[in-house]
Amino acid sequence: MKLFVDTGDVEEVRLAAEWGIIDGVTTNPTLIAKSGKGFKETVLKICELVPGGAISAEVVATDYDTMLKEALEISSWHEQIVVKVPLIESGVRLVSTLSDKGIRTNVTLVFSVGQALMAAKAGATYISNFVGRVDDLGADGMEAVRDTVDMINTYGFESEVLVASVRHPMHVLESIRAGAHVATMPFSAMKMLFKHPMTDSGLARFLDDWNKAGLSIS
Ligand code: G3P
Repeated sequence: MKLFVDTGDVEEVRLAAEWGIIDGVTTNPTLIAKSGKGFKETVLKICELVPGGAISAEVVATDYDTMLKEALEISSWHEQIVVKVPLIESGVRLVSTLSDKGIRTNVTLVFSVGQALMAAKAGATYISNFVGRVDDLGADGMEAVRDTVDMINTYGFESEVLVASVRHPMHVLESIRAGAHVATMPFSAMKMLFKHPMTDSGLARFLDDWNKAGLSIS
């Protein structure tokens, strides 16, 4: 499964990239606004920090003609850029156009299998299915992910299911169980994946025993 970090903070990208385990970065207008830096400079810096990674950058218009202009501009910045497009009618039309041009897309704000079907048929590279925001409403956000993975596999669509709005390690576990292709998460949630109390206590004991015996490596 691919792991993306969901952030507009280049320092977080730099730290995550040092681990050598991230396959890409997702941003959205909220995350870019929060970064306090310009859109293009932030996205280009992220491309540099994650060589070869898929870097999602989102259009902000909602009418087809302006969305197309924005998409062509954004995708011209760097070959690693994946154009992120909201799942609205003009967005699906845009994804069809970009797909014909060989431009990769990430369809965002997907909450249902019906929406995912529209994105897959338009030729989306990634379908971003949000889970945390659905859980916040007291429903099961992973249900649409499971059904969408089944749909992709049953009909042989080429789109990858990207689990977004991930908040904690249980979302990652369930994404793996569902067979999702990608999970994107905030840097803070990614760091939680390292954690296990038995790892911490086990390491403390190893080091304590080693030091008490007065051993050294060389
Ligand atoms: O980038 C899309 C998504 O991951 C947003 O997550 O936490 O704002 O629901 P969140």
